[in-house]
Amino acid sequence: MDFKLEVASALKEQIEDLTLEEIQSYIEIPPNKEMGDYAFPCFKLAKIFRKAPNMIAEDIAGKIEPKGSISKVVQLGGYVNFFVDKSKLAETVINKVLTEKENYGKSELGKGKTVVVDFSSPNIAKPFHIGHIRTTVIGNALYKIYNSQGYNMVRINHLGDYGTQFGKLIVAFKLWGDKETVESNPIPELLKLYVRFHDEAEVHPEMEDEARAWFTKLENGDEEAKALWQWFRDESLKEFSRVYDLLDIEFDSYAGESFYSDKMDRVIDLIKEKGLLEESEGTNIVNLDAYNLTPALITKKDGSTLYMTRDLAAAIYRKETYDFDKCLYVVGSQQALHFQQLFKVLELMGYEWSKDLVHVPFGMVALESGTMSTRKGRVVFLEDVLRQAIEKTKDIILTKNPNAENVDEIAKQVGVGAVVFQELSNSRIKDYTFSWDKTLSFDGETGPYVQYTHARCCAVLRKANEEVTSDIDYSLLSDEGSSEVLKVIESFNKCILASMKKNEPHIVTRFVLDLAQAFNKFYHDNPILVDDAELRKARLALVEATRQSIENGLALLGMHAPHKM
Ligand code: ARG
Repeated sequence: MDFKLEVASALKEQIEDLTLEEIQSYIEIPPNKEMGDYAFPCFKLAKIFRKAPNMIAEDIAGKIEPKGSISKVVQLGGYVNFFVDKSKLAETVINKVLTEKENYGKSELGKGKTVVVDFSSPNIAKPFHIGHIRTTVIGNALYKIYNSQGYNMVRINHLGDYGTQFGKLIVAFKLWGDKETVESNPIPELLKLYVRFHDEAEVHPEMEDEARAWFTKLENGDEEAKALWQWFRDESLKEFSRVYDLLDIEFDSYAGESFYSDKMDRVIDLIKEKGLLEESEGTNIVNLDAYNLTPALITKKDGSTLYMTRDLAAAIYRKETYDFDKCLYVVGSQQALHFQQLFKVLELMGYEWSKDLVHVPFGMVALESGTMSTRKGRVVFLEDVLRQAIEKTKDIILTKNPNAENVDEIAKQVGVGAVVFQELSNSRIKDYTFSWDKTLSFDGETGPYVQYTHARCCAVLRKANEEVTSDIDYSLLSDEGSSEVLKVIESFNKCILASMKKNEPHIVTRFVLDLAQAFNKFYHDNPILVDDAELRKARLALVEATRQSIENGLALLGMHAPHKM
């Protein structure tokens, strides 16, 4: 049962002019508990009823009889306030969590619908740096969140494995590279070559032409170019896989930019057929003046294709292959213009499904001193961040308990979790500054704090060593502290839906934090393992419902919930 819905239904009987959905959307949570559990503001009704809001509120409050889980209805200024029956709340919530277990929070809302999520998508031969963590972690959380609501999901890693930078790398490798050195430490070595290319090309601009020529060779299937490119790609993928393993992230497809190399002629033909292709100083473009956008570049002077061309081919391919209902691109906000152009060109090509493409942007990650730049070679490697976080966690665990079991696994779950949680703590679009201290801090509103709360629940349940059932006296959980915990648990599915609607995993992050805080307060104020068997049973059920909900919430963020820490 949904309490808000019950309140809304009671209101609906008195207010004909609003739909049930409208009423639900107006309902608020009063600022303090003494005022009630839900409040309905009457200000917007003043026009319809031609009466002052407080008079309307008084009227409505007087007409609604307490029934079901509504225990009291009062007028407070321009609001109708509702109190819900706390033991009913406990009964409903605990029954649901204990029966549904790991499925608590899930639904079949998206059954039969497919969502593609394009995320992570690092560039080959370039480091997987801290800037990539956001797309990787946000994309994975969105995958889990949609998946929990029954959507059929397709995770695509649109690798940046094509383009003129490969021409540069080939030139640099042929000039200065050494196979063994690269194989011993692929990405940093390839990065060095890339950086050196840029340094020297400043003095010898003709190197740029050479690089372009090598990329054209690659596009035309030249054996030497292809072999080098394949090798760069394989070596890079090995490194990326290590990071994905640490994060427990998988993809359904690694169809990156190169995958579309034989699919671009068709796209260019289609654009031509629609009469959209224009020549401009030797290049081919789609003019988007009418939409206040700069032109979309389709081919360069030498005929080679671009990031845009490959994204056009990719979108069409995905629609034809997966018949998606929605396709999310989890990519930094710097690329907003690119996606506006991409979606507009597809719309102009007559694809009505272009409306189902969504750019899910996120803010930039800056380093504490200065910004990172691949060309300059000053980067923080994601793998280093994760490994350091794991090391630090291991130290903390062993300091507290030198005989702790399973330390490596727990340190991995908590250390990686700390980094992931930090990424998902703020709204996506906020820029943020990466700091080692903050990332490795385990106090306050952090992942380890939530995981620790979960482990604490596990410890209590272990110690109790008795069966947890929902066959309890629910009136024993009608106190303020329990109700606060239960109200948060009850809101789980609503939080998931809201985070899906906005593509904002941080709403789920907030949920687990709120739950951990409410529970810790309860735990601080109330002993659980009391002698009174009835009370103990009731509280253990509350602990188990909390534990399960935290575990389910963390799972949606791509985090583990260890039982011991
Ligand atoms: N490789 C690109 C980058 O690192 C991101 C690709 C995003 N996906 C896409 N379909 N454009 O900036």
